Amino acid sequence: MTQASIIDGKAFAEGLRARVGTAAVGFEARTGRKPGLAVVLVGEDPASQVYVRNKGKQTVAAGMASFEHKLPADTAEADLLALVRELNEDPRVDGILVQLPLPPHMNEQKVIATINPDKDVDGFHVVNVGRLATGLPGFVPCTPLGCVMLLKDKLGSLSGLDAVVIGRSNIVGKPMAQLLIAESCTVTVAHSRTRDLPEVVRRADIVVAAVGRPEMVKGDWLKPGATVIDVGINRVPGAEEGKTRLVGDVDFASACEVAGAITPVPGGVGPMTIAVLLRNTIVAAHRNAGLDFDESAL
Ligand code: GUN
Repeated sequence: MTQASIIDGKAFAEGLRARVGTAAVGFEARTGRKPGLAVVLVGEDPASQVYVRNKGKQTVAAGMASFEHKLPADTAEADLLALVRELNEDPRVDGILVQLPLPPHMNEQKVIATINPDKDVDGFHVVNVGRLATGLPGFVPCTPLGCVMLLKDKLGSLSGLDAVVIGRSNIVGKPMAQLLIAESCTVTVAHSRTRDLPEVVRRADIVVAAVGRPEMVKGDWLKPGATVIDVGINRVPGAEEGKTRLVGDVDFASACEVAGAITPVPGGVGPMTIAVLLRNTIVAAHRNAGLDFDESAL
């Protein structure tokens, strides 16, 4: 019986944040100002409030300036667009992130389309989606970029490997597939209408699960030795009455018996997202200031 090695995303994210911190010191020495990230939160969604608080703390800890804008849930869309335009023009702001989801009376696509693509550190603007698809330098969504960093750290070259991405969202599944194509993988994108998902997954050297269904991918779906990246964060009832626990989209216990390597939940992909956001921000700061910077060293 094999036992998968555990991919420690928490440790990798700490290292990435430390490298970003060093780059932030260098940027400040060259420009006389800190790299800046603006985060806009509309409304009081509790999960979004936690994310935004953590982003703010980690931004400051990495030696960058954090600009937080909290707007009430009933803010008019025009007022949010006006704030985004102001941030586009603000020379202290290198990266702009509008926390999603937005309240239902707002058009998310319209808001994202208003962000200057060169400050779009989330990589959600259609210009950045197009740049990723065509191989131009741009910004790539944080979670899939973090997944590829973990895969390359574990496997080295991904060239020629069979990869299955489960999930076709704009935020994870689609950009993940693009990144794996760019790494010369043979990529299959599976989703809720896929026929015989276990059979498709069994072909894969790399499995990326991003569907939001607790413990859906079972160990006996996996090719022995496969590398498994679990993007799911699902809260389920715990062993004790009234308690909850976090699980991924992969059934961790059975997957560990078959996989070669696997990310845990929590402590796998989750901590990577904010670390990559800071990475994208430091990259934006150097590009927009026209400074030479070795992005591949991050
Ligand atoms: N909501 C949950 N995750 C994210 C993210 O990565 N970016 C934005 N803008 N909103 C989110």
